Amino acid sequence: MKVIRKESISNITKNRDFYDKKYKGVNVSGLIKTLNNLDAFLNDATTTDISWVGMYINNFKDTVKGKKIMELGCGNCANVAILAALGAEVVANDISDYSEDIVKALNENYKFEHNITFVKGDFTSHNLQEQSLDMVIGKAFLHHLTLEHEFEVIKKISQVLKPDGEARFFEPAVNSKILDELRWAVPMNNRPSKLLSPKAFKQWEDSDPHPHRDNSSKHFKRLGHQFFDTTEIIPMGMLERFYRILPFSTKTLRKYRRVALKLEKYAPKFMQYFGARSQTIIYKMPKQTSHV
Ligand SMILES: C[S@@+](CC[C@H](N)C(=O)[O-])C[C@H]1O[C@@H](n2cnc3c(N)ncnc32)[C@H](O)[C@@H]1O
Repeated sequence: MKVIRKESISNITKNRDFYDKKYKGVNVSGLIKTLNNLDAFLNDATTTDISWVGMYINNFKDTVKGKKIMELGCGNCANVAILAALGAEVVANDISDYSEDIVKALNENYKFEHNITFVKGDFTSHNLQEQSLDMVIGKAFLHHLTLEHEFEVIKKISQVLKPDGEARFFEPAVNSKILDELRWAVPMNNRPSKLLSPKAFKQWEDSDPHPHRDNSSKHFKRLGHQFFDTTEIIPMGMLERFYRILPFSTKTLRKYRRVALKLEKYAPKFMQYFGARSQTIIYKMPKQTSHV
């Protein structure tokens, strides 16, 4: 393993502290309910909620049974639980120890074909068998890493994937400086407006677990090319992103999101990239560099 710099280590610590607070005491009963109504959940989420739409794009659901899949940054473990319920052999990973508690509770409370296993701590610090995984995935994970750390993660993924394996990530997309500044100007949940309350915004930013980094589609394309022969970026959210400022009921907004995600696919590709708020990144055909 290549030693990563101090900046990356302190970023990992900041993320761990942040997410330990978030996942402490998570109760799995809601997740078990979801697993017991899996088709209804997936039919709704994978057509409406952008992170699920992005992760499950290209019929993903129907391809996972029997596959050995590692999810990095599994967080509250909703996705690992669903993949295991769909019949995948799932290895979950997160730096938060509380994710391990969630995995344990899931295994105790649901009869999976293969129990979920948990790999603790940072992925790059583990000696995993080369060419042993069908898929490595992450939902809102890569953008939490420094660029230097991300490079080591993608390199290692290319080594642990089987030759016909696939890496798949759902991440935010920042392809336009103007849209990004507009986004920060609008207050959202506990995030103050950068424009209207700069001091409060700075305070929020200091405790935020996202490092300042390039999240453009071009970046993820360049990164993939270094370790994979095939890279595909699917931008999304060009129209869907406006639901956050529309004054409608939750039900109407969910309908808007569904329709917007369908319609925006017909826009010219350059507009989809420019306006995207999210992207699915698919890397295939690992170049299988050897360990250094
Ligand atoms: C935005 S959350 C996403 C969680 C989950 N995938 C989801 O979609 O809800 C980011 C997750 O990445 C995890 N994380 C951050 N840095 C990590 C690292 N170096 N290794 C493993 N997990 C990490 C955090 O603990 C957190 O659970």
